[in-house]
Amino acid sequence: MSAIRGAVIWMTGLSGAGKSTLADALHQRLKEAGHASIVLDGDVLRRGLTAGLGFTPEDRAENLRRVAHVAALFMQQGFIAIAAVISPAHEHRRMAREIIGDGFVEVFVNAPLTVCEGRDVKGLYARARRGEIPHFTGISGPFDVPLDPDVMIETDRVSIEEAVDRLLVHLTAMGCLPRESGLGKPRLAK
Ligand code: ADX
Repeated sequence: MSAIRGAVIWMTGLSGAGKSTLADALHQRLKEAGHASIVLDGDVLRRGLTAGLGFTPEDRAENLRRVAHVAALFMQQGFIAIAAVISPAHEHRRMAREIIGDGFVEVFVNAPLTVCEGRDVKGLYARARRGEIPHFTGISGPFDVPLDPDVMIETDRVSIEEAVDRLLVHLTAMGCLPRESGLGKPRLAK
């Protein structure tokens, strides 16, 4: 069963904020319920579709333009496309919203820089602090805090399950998931 109508869950946030983890968890829940979805992860896409692009403002804009177009194609086929990309500038998110149109959901995956840096799963923050990575978001490159995201998830405060529940509620309210599926209903506290 595919979704009633597609959508793009556009996750923006710092490296290490939890975008990929949340994207994978949402994808898994949708898959278990039989809904078509796909994860478009910046790190993965940069190995193929957008290989060759770097992290200057211009390269990021081109990277995100391609991601937005791919996401839009999946959305038009009824998929819930989940993009997990830093997309640090207001302008990047505005462009993605414009390319995708109705069905675009801006999700700010928010964790303080100190938390992301403390996690430093890929060791990139340490390298950026040593001055080895130019344009590193949050250290040597800017991140415009989203001013009016459709959903904000504070990953240092809510569990992954709760975050996924909130996104499912949003998708149900948008008409992307059938109300009777029970997917978009907040779970009862245990
Ligand atoms: S975006 O800014 O163009 O949206 P994208 O999400 O595709 O970025 O890629 C971000 C990933 O690239 C990070 O998770 C990190 O692993 C890696 N990376 C390598 N160099 C940088 C950099 N200078 N700034 C941010 N992320 C970087």
